[in-house]
Amino acid sequence: MLASELKNLKVENAGGEMHNEDADEKPDDMISQAEVSLLQKVIRKGLITSKHDIEVQRKDPNSPLYSVKTFEAMKLRPELLKGLYAMGFDAPSKIQETALPTLLADPAQNMIAQSQSGTGKTAAFVLAMLSRVDLNLNHPQVLCLAPTYELALQIGEVATKMAQFLPAMKIVFAVRGEDRARGTKLTEHIIIGTPGKVLDWGVKYKFFDLSKIKVFVLDEADVMIATQGHQDQSFRIHKYLQPSCQVMFFSATYEQQVMEFAEVIVPDPIIIRLKREEESLENIKQYYVLCGDQEAKYNSIANIYGGITVGQAIIFCHTKKTASWLAGKMTRDGHSVALLSGELTVEQRIAVLDRFRQGVEKVLITTNVLSRGIDVEAVTIVVNFDLPIDLQRQADCETYLHRIGRTGRFGKMGLAINLVDNRSMHILKDIERHFGKEIKPLDTEDPDDIGKLSQNK
Ligand SMILES: Nc1ncnc2c1ncn2[C@@H]1O[C@H](COP(=O)(O)OP(=O)(O)OP(=O)(O)O)[C@@H](O)[C@H]1O
Ligand SMILES: [Mg+2]
Repeated sequence: MLASELKNLKVENAGGEMHNEDADEKPDDMISQAEVSLLQKVIRKGLITSKHDIEVQRKDPNSPLYSVKTFEAMKLRPELLKGLYAMGFDAPSKIQETALPTLLADPAQNMIAQSQSGTGKTAAFVLAMLSRVDLNLNHPQVLCLAPTYELALQIGEVATKMAQFLPAMKIVFAVRGEDRARGTKLTEHIIIGTPGKVLDWGVKYKFFDLSKIKVFVLDEADVMIATQGHQDQSFRIHKYLQPSCQVMFFSATYEQQVMEFAEVIVPDPIIIRLKREEESLENIKQYYVLCGDQEAKYNSIANIYGGITVGQAIIFCHTKKTASWLAGKMTRDGHSVALLSGELTVEQRIAVLDRFRQGVEKVLITTNVLSRGIDVEAVTIVVNFDLPIDLQRQADCETYLHRIGRTGRFGKMGLAINLVDNRSMHILKDIERHFGKEIKPLDTEDPDDIGKLSQNK
């Protein structure tokens, strides 16, 4: 079976054992004050990326923001157009202008779409979802699945904002913590949720009829259909859908095998695909700092955090254990950091993310649970405390791209800093090779490097 061919696929996994560092290596690779001030310069530059820059990117055919069409030309419901403008969306991005006309056309077409992180995939599929709803029918017609609780809520927030001038449109979240009484029949038009809960609601409790779903969306589709991801649950849901149901897959990454698999499960799809060299964004500058051991990594972080006052940062750790160790240590040293990992309750998770979105904490320490889809505009730095690896301890290039994509949203500048030691250097090299893009060392001893960094090239 196909599924068995896919057993080597990459995983989104916050578990696993902590990477053991070699304690003998010299713990002296901190980021110096000079480096910190350079970083600050780079970041300030990034922050003044103005509307004007976005306009420039829109006119560059090589930019993911490039567009020639307008939202008006897309025959959207006037209320949705009004919603878009109220959100400050003046013109579509490349993925929006490419995907939307096809998604809205009749008869409905299936689609597998890829577009870089932060380029507006959510609006593309949410507009299609909202457009397909028949407001005269009071039962769920559209189903959207996402891999995490936080992402499902975020998609729902975007949909709610876009539908603000369509008050009759009702959206319900099928996520952990949301429960309904037995016998409930949902009257909302759109369900946005995570696979486990949707399966419960649709199959176990029959709160809604999966055969009446007209549009089925998978955000972060590659991980939703990967063996080690949410494949089983996604498939069980998919099985109950009618053949006529319009299927939309969206992600910033598709491993070759996953794409082939996706093409098997989505009938006659229109495919929008990026070339490998287009996948990584030019506006996210990538660096690495060679650190002796975990303590040296900690010191690097503390220095970055202490020195950078502009913007916000997300720090990714491989395990919950490292994440809480780092958060504890930084907190004891007087830093104000937030920690979000899978072990928190849903209420705690959403409270932490809300506080971070509001800027109460400037640094968020997390695991792969937040690597995909989360959109916080003010994030200017992503730090990989540990490089992402899969179960075979090989470079997880897809997760890498998603993690660094938490910065550099919609054309803004972003900085990705990888903390590596001699043992993880080969992972970094594999990531570099995969994307064909150099990850530069941060070394202020080299005048050329200093020049490049401050010019942000
Ligand atoms: N047409 C537009 N005009 C202005 N801003 C936009 C437009 N489309 C999207 N955005 C903004 O761009 C940001 C990124 O969008 P979104 O979260 O949909 O990215 P994404 O492609 O889903 O990325 P990821 O792969 O990380 O999930 C959001 O803050 C969104 O509000
Ligand atoms: Mg997204």
